[in-house]
Amino acid sequence: MAAIGLFFGSSTGHTEDVAYEMKTEFDKLNPELVDIHNIGATSVEQFMSYEYLICGIPTWNTGQLQDDWEFFLPKIVDADMTTKRIAIFGLGDQNGYGFNFLDAVGLLAEAFLEKGADIIGLWSTDGYQFNESLAEYEGKFLGLGIDEDGQPELTTSRIKQWTVQVLKEFKIQQEVVS
Ligand SMILES: Cc1cc2nc3c(=O)[nH]c(=O)nc-3n(C[C@H](O)[C@H](O)[C@H](O)COP(=O)(O)O)c2cc1C
Repeated sequence: MAAIGLFFGSSTGHTEDVAYEMKTEFDKLNPELVDIHNIGATSVEQFMSYEYLICGIPTWNTGQLQDDWEFFLPKIVDADMTTKRIAIFGLGDQNGYGFNFLDAVGLLAEAFLEKGADIIGLWSTDGYQFNESLAEYEGKFLGLGIDEDGQPELTTSRIKQWTVQVLKEFKIQQEVVS
């Protein structure tokens, strides 16, 4: 089992594509570093077996969790996540849903924080245009924001920058990373 579990939910494939691009970035450092899982086919035991988690979620249905995450979260409602370090990335559409941009990132972060997890990988809101977001906290998103609908040209550079940031913030021992 790898040190980091990357779990994604995706209804039309964008988050899945981003998740695999992210895994490719980590693989360049160490192909054994990250396991990738679709949350729609993940057991609680699999999810809870990682100390370091990366969770990818798009916002759907105007401010809601993506379906597979919505189905999964109640299964871990009583879980103790105090030893978990979690980085979240979210997909959304700032032009089409400017009042709910990346809301699911905020909802997921809240659920993990309630269970005692440490959320890392916060990301500046600079460069995005939106009105409101449950993902925003003190001028930052509670994870990486990706907009494949409005800013697809920025996706690859955002992924590259964020994966480096996340590895630093996870503080995984150097020998595991390289
Ligand atoms: C019906 C519908 C509702 C959406 N609601 C939101 C929303 O509330 N906030 C947001 O940021 N994006 C919203 N989006 C945009 C999706 O999150 C975006 O297209 C994302 O890339 C989809 O990811 P997926 O292909 O992994 O499911 C919505 C898209 C659709 C079609």
